[in-house]
Amino acid sequence: MKALLLTFALLGLLIAGCGPAVPADAEIPVTPAVAPLAASVEFTPVPSATATSTVVPAIPATVTPIPTASATPSPIPTATPTATETPIPSPTAEPLRPCDQRIPDDGLLPIITQKFAMSRDFAPSDLVKLSDALPNRVTLGYPSEIREMVLPPLAEMIAAMESAGLKPFIISAYRSYAAQSIAWNKWLQREPDRAAILSAPPGHSEHQLGTTVDFGSPELPGIVGEEDIQFHTYFYMTSESRWLEENAHLYGFTLSYPRDSFELTGFYYEPWHYRYVGVDLATQLKDTGQFLTANQFETQPPPCIP
Ligand code: DAL
Ligand code: ZN
Repeated sequence: MKALLLTFALLGLLIAGCGPAVPADAEIPVTPAVAPLAASVEFTPVPSATATSTVVPAIPATVTPIPTASATPSPIPTATPTATETPIPSPTAEPLRPCDQRIPDDGLLPIITQKFAMSRDFAPSDLVKLSDALPNRVTLGYPSEIREMVLPPLAEMIAAMESAGLKPFIISAYRSYAAQSIAWNKWLQREPDRAAILSAPPGHSEHQLGTTVDFGSPELPGIVGEEDIQFHTYFYMTSESRWLEENAHLYGFTLSYPRDSFELTGFYYEPWHYRYVGVDLATQLKDTGQFLTANQFETQPPPCIP
């Protein structure tokens, strides 16, 4: 019973993601909501004093990406792949499965996009708690998890940011298929026509891999002019984002959805969403200006049948 309660508590708490956290059993509120707490459950998040206003707002209309001139939304990808979308099949590749049956390998580089998904049954086997290595002011008190190998470089990167006078926090890390379903359904209710570009459908989120982190900045509300804003394209203007853009590769992280990556990824610019791929590849991507999905399509066969 305790395990059951805990499961539901975690689901309710871990759906923040690329959309704000919303209680699993609540209507989408139109005003800023409080944290989705169940008084009787364990792992009640204890947001830090400085982050309270940005922790768990309602889904704000302004979370909608505001494309800049250079980030004008590209058309929805067509069924006809471009040359760069056509990976070279490996002669030794096993027969492809439908994407909803795909279990990614343990490596750091599975392709996950709006087109290529993974099974609802996939979950990493080596998840650890962010709080094992990060203080409350960074985790916001959430019981977030991440793959074990990602935690040391993440903690090192956060320490470097704090040493530089920055105040990064982590809004979301691992999200299970179930947690992503909850987040996705909230977006579908709120913005049915655009849910597919504001959030990932379950199975299509890199957060399910356990190697991806959404960062927050205390500067964002002032820049956007909204006290409770959590995700906004203007994150790129924050000091934390500028530091990450310059330095995240040194710790093995890369921005998954830079400007103009929509055609291949299916997602708009998300300056807060970083994925751990290891220092070598992250540095190569930084040096060449290539983004991860483009590199993956060049170097990997299609992972599954969409
Ligand atoms: N917003 C990103 C695409 C996600 O939900 O994973
Ligand atoms: Zn994200």
